Amino acid sequence: MPRTRTDQKSATPWWRDAVIYQVYIRSFADGNGDGVGDIAGLRARLPYLQELGVDALWINPWYPSPMADGGYDVADYRSIDPLFGTLAEAEELIAEAHTRGMRVVLDIVPNHTSDQHRWFVEALASPPGSPERDRYLFRDGTGPDGSRPPNDWRSRFGGPAWTRVTEADGSPGQWFLHLFAAEQPDLNWASREVRAEFEAILRFWFDRGVDGFRIDVAHGLAKDPALPDLGIPDDALFEHERHKEDHPHWDQEGVHEIYQTWRKIADSYAGDRLFVAEAHVREDRLVDYLRQDELHTAFNFPFLKSSWEPNAMREVIDRAVTGLAAVDAPPTWVLSNHDVPRHVTRYGRGDTQTHEHDVGAGPADLELGTRRARAAALLTLALPGSAYLYQGEELGLWEVEDLPDEVLADPTWKRSGGTVRGRDGCRVPLPWSGLDGPFGFGPKGTEAWLPQPAEWKTLTAQAQSGIPWSMLELYRSALRLRREQSGFDSGTLRWLEMPEGVLAFERSPVLRCAVNFSGEPFPLPKNWGVLLASERITGGQLPADTTVWLWGGGSSRG
Ligand code: NOJ
Repeated sequence: MPRTRTDQKSATPWWRDAVIYQVYIRSFADGNGDGVGDIAGLRARLPYLQELGVDALWINPWYPSPMADGGYDVADYRSIDPLFGTLAEAEELIAEAHTRGMRVVLDIVPNHTSDQHRWFVEALASPPGSPERDRYLFRDGTGPDGSRPPNDWRSRFGGPAWTRVTEADGSPGQWFLHLFAAEQPDLNWASREVRAEFEAILRFWFDRGVDGFRIDVAHGLAKDPALPDLGIPDDALFEHERHKEDHPHWDQEGVHEIYQTWRKIADSYAGDRLFVAEAHVREDRLVDYLRQDELHTAFNFPFLKSSWEPNAMREVIDRAVTGLAAVDAPPTWVLSNHDVPRHVTRYGRGDTQTHEHDVGAGPADLELGTRRARAAALLTLALPGSAYLYQGEELGLWEVEDLPDEVLADPTWKRSGGTVRGRDGCRVPLPWSGLDGPFGFGPKGTEAWLPQPAEWKTLTAQAQSGIPWSMLELYRSALRLRREQSGFDSGTLRWLEMPEGVLAFERSPVLRCAVNFSGEPFPLPKNWGVLLASERITGGQLPADTTVWLWGGGSSRG
């Protein structure tokens, strides 16, 4: 049984080893037949998630938004977009998830608002130097007539990170900063008012029972007030991926005092509340976010990016486990999310590393990718710490690489002038049942907001339910064992000596996990029983690209 919520703080809070399921709400389940997922759809599928056996849901932004970036452009942080439902429905969903033993984590987007947020509308209507403009980062342009942006920073979605506004009198005016799309103006975190507002927003949702927040762009809030140039050539579309020690807008020291304040707010609520940071920073700097008085956990992107290769995997695992021990933060594990190509596709390519926006990065062998994804799932779920599952990975969904140009909604597509397709391929609505689209995503006869591949009829939840060796049943079994089997709660991992190409570790003296990355079968130790394997085991041999969980404690599995 999932652990029940209590008002007490626990010695081992739930988030230290939870399995958290990411709900990309617009693509999860459509309750009202408009082609877009919503709260009603999610609520109707809570029994599915309970049966899957996850401990918590992380719901991507569901707030009112013009959807310039799939909801990461928030117009009102205290309400629900009508596309998804109402605040009352959100409250009922939170309550029902709790009744079913699952916690609810929301996405908070503090780096930027939507350009339709009341504050930004007020800023545009107010003069340069006004308090309304001070909530954002407005600056005069450079060059004799101010027609060049204040500096050379680039948007993550391509192109300049500055857009010029037209002032109330119709003249060309100041520029505002947006590290993402122009519809996502960056907030000024040096402003007291901005800080107070977000503290109130956290309380608003904590008061409604949410168990935590995933912090979007957690490393971006504080900017070097001098806004210095990065030294990027004029014609560069994207910022070069470089880890400048003193980067002026990523990982600035100033972020930490914001999170210290947030932590005090979380701690002031009953029970164990969670913050998980989306912080793309150097691993040795990540620990600073996870100090005892700051955030609880952070996503482990090196694991998500790692190639399917034993030495690379072992190295990222080791770095996570040992690196975070210094601050007593649990490691986290994630293979896919709404921003990267699905791992079935990635693992089926020649180059199995994650590259951003790499749709079309070479053909994928989906059979091989699926086999490796099964092995990766058992590896991930055997590691100490908490794990994030991205909706649809339990069905073995692959990246949809042939979406027609006209349906692409990711701002990257437009901002790159139609050269970078973006992230829609991992956001295609889930197939639940039936033989034709929308595969139970919405009522029969409706069309999902992105077209689903016809081949997904074999991957629906219905088609896989109760079918031995299906991906869905593999996940269900793994989550059940992880909950029930002693040893998974040890919090530790000890590597075992293995031949080249095989990784094996012990979670307790009687619980082991072995992964065979080599192309050859590997003989399993005698006297150990197979608890679960990602492929059939015959003749005591662990086949290639297979993971096994082994039990050495005799017949009782205490
Ligand atoms: C990270 C989110 O995961 C991504 O989807 C979004 O586009 C950016 N942050 C901007 O909010």
